[in-house]
Amino acid sequence: MTKIESLLKDERIFYPPQEGKDLAYIKSRYQYDKIYDYSLKDPDGFWTERAKELITWFRYWDRTCYWDFNKAEIRFFEGGKLNASYNCLDRHLLNPHVKNKAAIIWQGEHDRDLRVYTYQMLHDEVCRFANILKSLGVKKGDRVVIYMPTMPEVIAAMLACARIGAIHVVVYGGLSAEALKSRILDAGAKILITADGTYSGGRRINLLNNAETAIAQCECIEKYIVINRFGEEITLSDKRGLLFDELIKNKEFEKYCPCEEMDAEDILFILYTSGSTGKPKGIYHTTGGYLVYAAHTTQWVFDLRPEDIIWRPGAVGWITFHTYVVYSPLALGATVFIYDGLPDYPNPGRWWELVDRFKVTILYLTPTNIRAFMKEREDWPAKYDLSTLRILGTVGEPINPEVWIWYHKNVGKGRIPVVDTWWQTETGGHLISPLPYTIPQKPGSVTLPLPGIEPVIFRDDGTSADINESGHLCIKGAWPGIARGLWGDSEKFKEIYFSRFPGYYFTGDQARVDEDGYFWIMGRLDDVISVSGYLIRTSELESVFVAHSAVAEAAVVGMPHEIKGEVIYAYIVLKDGFQPSEELKKNLIQHITKEIGPLVIPEVIQFVNDLPKTRSGKIMRRILRKVAAGVYDDLGDKSTLANPDVVEKIIQGRKEIF
Ligand code: WTA
Repeated sequence: MTKIESLLKDERIFYPPQEGKDLAYIKSRYQYDKIYDYSLKDPDGFWTERAKELITWFRYWDRTCYWDFNKAEIRFFEGGKLNASYNCLDRHLLNPHVKNKAAIIWQGEHDRDLRVYTYQMLHDEVCRFANILKSLGVKKGDRVVIYMPTMPEVIAAMLACARIGAIHVVVYGGLSAEALKSRILDAGAKILITADGTYSGGRRINLLNNAETAIAQCECIEKYIVINRFGEEITLSDKRGLLFDELIKNKEFEKYCPCEEMDAEDILFILYTSGSTGKPKGIYHTTGGYLVYAAHTTQWVFDLRPEDIIWRPGAVGWITFHTYVVYSPLALGATVFIYDGLPDYPNPGRWWELVDRFKVTILYLTPTNIRAFMKEREDWPAKYDLSTLRILGTVGEPINPEVWIWYHKNVGKGRIPVVDTWWQTETGGHLISPLPYTIPQKPGSVTLPLPGIEPVIFRDDGTSADINESGHLCIKGAWPGIARGLWGDSEKFKEIYFSRFPGYYFTGDQARVDEDGYFWIMGRLDDVISVSGYLIRTSELESVFVAHSAVAEAAVVGMPHEIKGEVIYAYIVLKDGFQPSEELKKNLIQHITKEIGPLVIPEVIQFVNDLPKTRSGKIMRRILRKVAAGVYDDLGDKSTLANPDVVEKIIQGRKEIF
């Protein structure tokens, strides 16, 4: 691989606050270093301690860690018995301080749509749901697809599955009938749980139509259960349909439902990645290792304590929802806030108003979320009291330093830590992230690996990269939260993750390590453009654009060029109050020349209102690359886009330029 130079030369450093440090789980760099060394020297000892500390087991395991990456075989806590639903609910009922506290606070789009479940109430709801599933013949190992908006019933349904040993497959409610169908069929699901619909920006969104269209072509579905969100009569079009409101009239279902004893290596869930490339993959995680790893990272990275209220806005069909909204905060007995609505409806202050009203303490956003706020004028957070916040998180893509600093300053008021957490659906939880009170931060860097994680950076030929040389990010050895396989395709699991560099887990991300040992994630390999023989990172160029006062968001791709091979095509979203003009284009080009140099001057700048994104906020560069190249049909699978309408507008804009 030709060496890829880093364009970013950001030297700003932010020190962790003193306030809050004394109470933190991990208080210093010294303590982190000691734990890190121990975790690598004695993984068995380290994970045994963490697993016993964090999780209640019905039976302890016979062997703590086992892996053979050449065979793609990974097992943790083998022979151990536990139940995830028990850990998230039942064990808290024995504690009078937790039993009657809020487990879930749910706010719908309308203010009057507000519900609170205490741990006791959630437990009862989960038992009821589990009894219903059992009555429909659901058994251990059966797959149950959950296709719903963000509402408490999603969590209840997930924990009900976990309780009886069924495998849940949560599919984001914004996906099309076609995408839902392919996931149901791939998983071979027996039951579908859905809702009539939800609200979005004042409009009603119908889910049931999609669900019924999908299952019309899915013979494997024996029954589907419909939850009533609109409070109106529901007409079912298929005889397999059941109304939740009817089912719960049966008092029998209110009985206590015992927890199935699950082996640590029994599958807990399958999650299809709505990745920005290619066909969705059904990644599965198992019970023991996943739960330990979820609780472990939450406790140390978010410094989560029982009195915290954590909020990660966004789609239920994402791994962040599974790990940091459902399993770990509930396993640790904290309170989860969930919101079903848009960030800017009825006004751009909505999310800050919710932080203020519900006294959120830990807020976990994506860079895309944050950039959207920067676009909508910076003064909104200041209108609300955000003083209960104590940790801010970010996830999903490299954060532009300018965005990090805005978040730290405007949301965190410069007084609280920001944790930039790098991980993947496959990793189950965070792998590289600052522990909030231990380390000075360089905006844009994910800092150091967590205990138990040993990342390495390889060149193409498998030799180790030098300091500041970017290469393939791989992980040596396994950790409890790593995925155990791809549903129905063990060969592919081995091929994708364990064959590129034998003996290592291959992340597919590019990264570099700087002179202080800090990791910088640079995105996927295909996010690189080659201009006159120089390889340029799109993410870095985008960061430079975003540092311009008029730019809210930028997506940079390569456009084929007869002479130069490839040139830079930049899609730019302006902040409110700025108008597209030739003048502004010149100004942006000057800005790029000044910050980086003339080499990377974009050939084309197209102003757009919005960028095509997946639900988790990842920009679909695959589509933007095609449009830049003038290819308007054959754009590939658009089913995972959160905002499919923007594609047509972008195509129109491109046609106007050429
Ligand atoms: C990217 C999300 C930079 C990365 C939990 C990874 C990040 C992919 C970060 C996984 C971060 C995630 N900085 N890049 N803090 N976090 N990524 O499976 O490319 O939806 O491989 O899981 O997102 O996305 P996934």
